[in-house]
Amino acid sequence: MHDISSYEFDLTKEVPISEPQRQFYYMAKAKKLVEELEQKLGRKPSFHVATFGCQMNARDSEKLTGILEQIGYVEADSEDADFVLYNTCTVRENANNKVYGHLGYLHNKKKKNPHMMIALCGCMMQEEHVVETIRRKYQFVDLVFGTHNIYKFAELLVQAFLTRQMVVEIWEDTDQIVENLPVERKYPFKSGVNIMFGCNNFCSYCIVPYVRGRERSRQPEDILQEIRNLVADGVVEVMLLGQNVNSYGKNLSEPMTFAQLLTEVEQIPGLQRIRFMTSHPKDLSDELIEVLAHSSKICRHLHLPLQSGSTRILEKMNRRYTKEDYLMLVDKIREKIPDMAITTDIIVGFPGETEEDFLETMDVVEKVQYDSAFTFIYSRRTGTPAASMEGQVPEEVVKDRFDRLLKRVQEISAQKAGCYTGQVVEVLVEGENEHDAALVTGRMSNNSIVHFAADASLIGSLVQVRLTECKGFYYIGEMV
Ligand code: 5AD
Ligand code: SF4
Repeated sequence: MHDISSYEFDLTKEVPISEPQRQFYYMAKAKKLVEELEQKLGRKPSFHVATFGCQMNARDSEKLTGILEQIGYVEADSEDADFVLYNTCTVRENANNKVYGHLGYLHNKKKKNPHMMIALCGCMMQEEHVVETIRRKYQFVDLVFGTHNIYKFAELLVQAFLTRQMVVEIWEDTDQIVENLPVERKYPFKSGVNIMFGCNNFCSYCIVPYVRGRERSRQPEDILQEIRNLVADGVVEVMLLGQNVNSYGKNLSEPMTFAQLLTEVEQIPGLQRIRFMTSHPKDLSDELIEVLAHSSKICRHLHLPLQSGSTRILEKMNRRYTKEDYLMLVDKIREKIPDMAITTDIIVGFPGETEEDFLETMDVVEKVQYDSAFTFIYSRRTGTPAASMEGQVPEEVVKDRFDRLLKRVQEISAQKAGCYTGQVVEVLVEGENEHDAALVTGRMSNNSIVHFAADASLIGSLVQVRLTECKGFYYIGEMV
């Protein structure tokens, strides 16, 4: 990580134009402002970042936290802080409502702490009607920015400090990817690594392409260097992140496939585990299956969103595969890699979904036997093609289908979960057990959780564990 104290910035001189130098200049400036605040308060100002949504947002929050720590804030574990940032999600409607609810709560805190600053970022802020609502109804918010300009956080923060007015900066779209800004990781031993941003798929229900913009891949050398640096800093597991990792590299000046990238990541000495998220079934290549089959570092877990089992609905969703394509793909993966855990996302109640369509989804669930599945009720997102489709399904019908699906998905997960009982497996120790200090909690390659007796000094290490008992969704084990 860069330390801004090593950057000699004359703050009276012109602001650098090129990135990331410009942001280091603003970090130095923000640091001064935070020092002044510290003198006023007689203590170090604190910050709290609350993250909603997916792994991408979690990674963005680590970057934002990195900047806040660099400029002198200390982390607080609740919203009783001098700077509160919400990194929002807008994939489903209820996520938006949650944020508005929280804002009311923050307003009360701000009334008691006049130095408090409130910032909002993330996907929800890329929606025009949201920003309008915030300007109108939540004028106590200090800073609003989108998903394309998080690297400019320091600059925007300085602006908010100096103007004491709501600063709003949302970009429609950008090609810019700024490398080498500070990051503060949540876990010392594992880390997400963005390999691409945005999405070009335009599934008809999904708002992501509108709020995250077009697909942009990072240069392979930047990704590999970031991972080498992470390994040097103690990381043993990386999660490669993208909305559709299988189309990585298509838009690079020297195109490269995701399988080729994985092959290079695999060769990094000291790196022990590789995960990735998310795979679109339409782009999962034979080349990738070969790489997964022969890899010793890539974890035995594939998240392969189904969304619906009905070819008719899949077409309306613009998923570009049929029920049969999906099932054939799963067969091919299982044939080459029998121990690959497969998980999925399923949407219930997409416009026009009939009982027959729903039964097709249940049929795929039966045939694939997912290790686990995230099930969602279709949420109408303004601006997406599905929002104006005919045949929106009545709430009670959706609820009934959702309950039937969830029940079956859970029964199958519970049945599958026990299949490794008695075996010795490799486990990454991730933390102390939340309920029993004598135990630690670890994760198997296939993403299953194991609790076992061990010393907390093993956190971040890979150990061999015998799985003695399965308790539904997790194992109890003993170190061997
Ligand atoms: N309604 C319900 N679920 C959705 N998802 C994306 N958009 C919607 C929506 N409008 C789900 C998909 C996706 C997951 C991240 O969220 O299943 O894979
Ligand atoms: Fe949304 Fe589809 Fe892109 Fe996934 S692939 S982010 S579901 S548009």
